[in-house]
Amino acid sequence: MSQKVLIPTKLSTAAKDILENNGFNVVQEAGVDLVELAKTHSDAEGMIVRSEKLTPEVIDLFPNLKVIVRAGAGYNTIDIQYARSKDITVMNTPGANSNAVAEEAVGMMISCARFFIEGDRSTRAGEWKKAQLQGFELTGKTIGIAGFGNIGQLLAKRLSGFDVKLLVFDPFVSEDKLAEYGAKNVSLEELFAGSDFISLHMPATKETANIVSTKLLTSMKDGAVLVNCARYEILDEAALREVKKTKTIYYANDVYPKDAAGDKTIADVSDIMLPHLGASSLEANTNAAVMAANQVSNYLGKGISVF
Ligand code: MLT
Repeated sequence: MSQKVLIPTKLSTAAKDILENNGFNVVQEAGVDLVELAKTHSDAEGMIVRSEKLTPEVIDLFPNLKVIVRAGAGYNTIDIQYARSKDITVMNTPGANSNAVAEEAVGMMISCARFFIEGDRSTRAGEWKKAQLQGFELTGKTIGIAGFGNIGQLLAKRLSGFDVKLLVFDPFVSEDKLAEYGAKNVSLEELFAGSDFISLHMPATKETANIVSTKLLTSMKDGAVLVNCARYEILDEAALREVKKTKTIYYANDVYPKDAAGDKTIADVSDIMLPHLGASSLEANTNAAVMAANQVSNYLGKGISVF
């Protein structure tokens, strides 16, 4: 009997196609509770997820599971330690959505600096705020990229046409990489104090929790733009609220926590607020699907397919 792979998420059908071509029995059902799915598909040996929460209780419903792939960069929704304790391998799809997030960060910078969102809202409301909404340009400015992994580096590349000066904070970046992008590695303090635009690209870890603190926010240039397309946990929201009372800084937020949807207090600190759209491009979805399917297929012994 062919091995079963469960895809309980809205992912490009490229994943299903690859896996079926490689002989797997694939069940793709988005929006159905995993507890429900386990009633008929508890025999799944592989699983590909996006934002579905894989808690110990859910993992236990699939006793044959050998591999889980998260079609995304972070593992935040999976209890990795528990999965590993059950001999389940957990993988992600690094790089699959990097370009989508890097492009989003550029869009956030320009939208914030040129007041596109406020311009749209006010014009629709019958106002004409041309005079009030004078913005500023990205070209020639100093950009601070906090976290210089796949996404940070692609952002640097995409920004090259804007003749910007690049400051980078990343304890692990090599001199060669810095030279490749003409970037200078500085402390987080120097990056925050010296940049006109700051883009966060760090993972959420114990070390980065609330790393964007009162001290860093207070040191920002007046009128600077802070873009967070990374993770909600890395910014101290209460600190941002306080600092914004006395200082003009702009916050473009793509990491508004879903559980807090509709919470006006959180909304008030954000000049732009999106429902975590960073990876939501057609291309990123396909890349992640292809990568995830190949990882599952390879892990379960059926090799990879070129797509
Ligand atoms: C990721 O971890 O890949 C991103 O946060 C994108 C997402 O989950 O939608």
